Amino acid sequence: MLSRRRFLRHASAGAAGLYAATMVRSRLREQYAFAAEMGIQPEEAINLANNENSLGPGDEVMDAIDSVLGPEGVIAGRYPFRFLGPATEAIAEKFGVSTDNVLVGAGSTQILVDATHQYASADKALVGSLPTYEECFGYAALMGYRTKAVPLTPDFRMDLDQTLHAVKGSGMLFYCNPNNPVATLVDPSDSKDFLTRALDTEKDLRILVDEAYIDYVTTPGHETMIPLALENPRVIVARTFSKAYGMAGLRIGYAIAHEDTIAELSDFHMGNSVSIPALVAANAALERDRSNPDFLPDEKKRNAEARDFILKFFRDRGLSATDAQTNFIFTDVGMPVEQFQAACAAEGLRVGRPFPPLWTRCRISIGTMDEMQRAATKMARVLDSAMKMAA
Ligand SMILES: Cc1ncc(COP(=O)(O)O)c(C=O)c1O
Repeated sequence: MLSRRRFLRHASAGAAGLYAATMVRSRLREQYAFAAEMGIQPEEAINLANNENSLGPGDEVMDAIDSVLGPEGVIAGRYPFRFLGPATEAIAEKFGVSTDNVLVGAGSTQILVDATHQYASADKALVGSLPTYEECFGYAALMGYRTKAVPLTPDFRMDLDQTLHAVKGSGMLFYCNPNNPVATLVDPSDSKDFLTRALDTEKDLRILVDEAYIDYVTTPGHETMIPLALENPRVIVARTFSKAYGMAGLRIGYAIAHEDTIAELSDFHMGNSVSIPALVAANAALERDRSNPDFLPDEKKRNAEARDFILKFFRDRGLSATDAQTNFIFTDVGMPVEQFQAACAAEGLRVGRPFPPLWTRCRISIGTMDEMQRAATKMARVLDSAMKMAA
């Protein structure tokens, strides 16, 4: 939907009708494409598959992109060099660090690949939990690097003791906290102590702390590992604008680390990978944070309310879900997840894919409250009909 503010801004530019039509078209394009794929009406389609943010980046960010691209878009004919500095400075300012402590990438994915490339190898294993976010393991497999995957504990948390064994002789630990796809968080009182012990256990170890979902954590006492990364060159923190800032399609993320580590990561970092709209968007989002300090807390609250609603839906049905600290949940669906996924798709609802070896658990992203309420109606039909078939 076109917001009133953006509509008025463009109305005053004298092209309201055309602009409104264009905006509505572009905002609905994804919805229509998805609905067409599903063979249903667009207003019926709900996409909760990829831990995205249904709200998008927001007016301030879209205005900034519009104003830099301009109606003729001539800036799009230029390389992004001069936009990288201001975005890097804005990120550095957010954390009170130097720009030498920041590396901007095309999504945090680029940072994850940079680090895996630099610190894992055929001899020095990449260590992580099973399952976890796959990017590092996927890159390691492609390159023929050694890997060690540590199964989760029975309550779907990272197994810290087993991980400590696994890091011996290894090159890099991928520490995804909260962890995707299971949504759980390491107890805040254990996290820093564990990382310090891992660094002591293996003197060559590097640790990549993935904080993609940190803005959605509601467990009291949880804190970023950025201070540890600044003081210890063997720790890197990866962050993204794809989640709470609603910019998954724009592709921008970053690393925060000691300046020597940023220099090392930069050796393998493909330059000019981040587009002008993404850099401008990040800058505008951080400017909004400065003028509206409630933006991130409000987004966290909105997500937590929709998350509580859908967690209750499953738990009321006797289906156990993990303690979600993210913009998705991970829940038992009482049937093979592929069956649940296909039945939901027939209802116009896209949910997460299987995450072996957890075959009856489904990852479901958090949309708006309205989307979650409509999704619950669809999922109730799927679960009821499976129960009837089984009876
Ligand atoms: C834990 C985790 N890290 C990193 C990413 C990649 O994010 P980006 O869009 O910044 O590349 C994701 C994406 O879902 C993720 O779940």
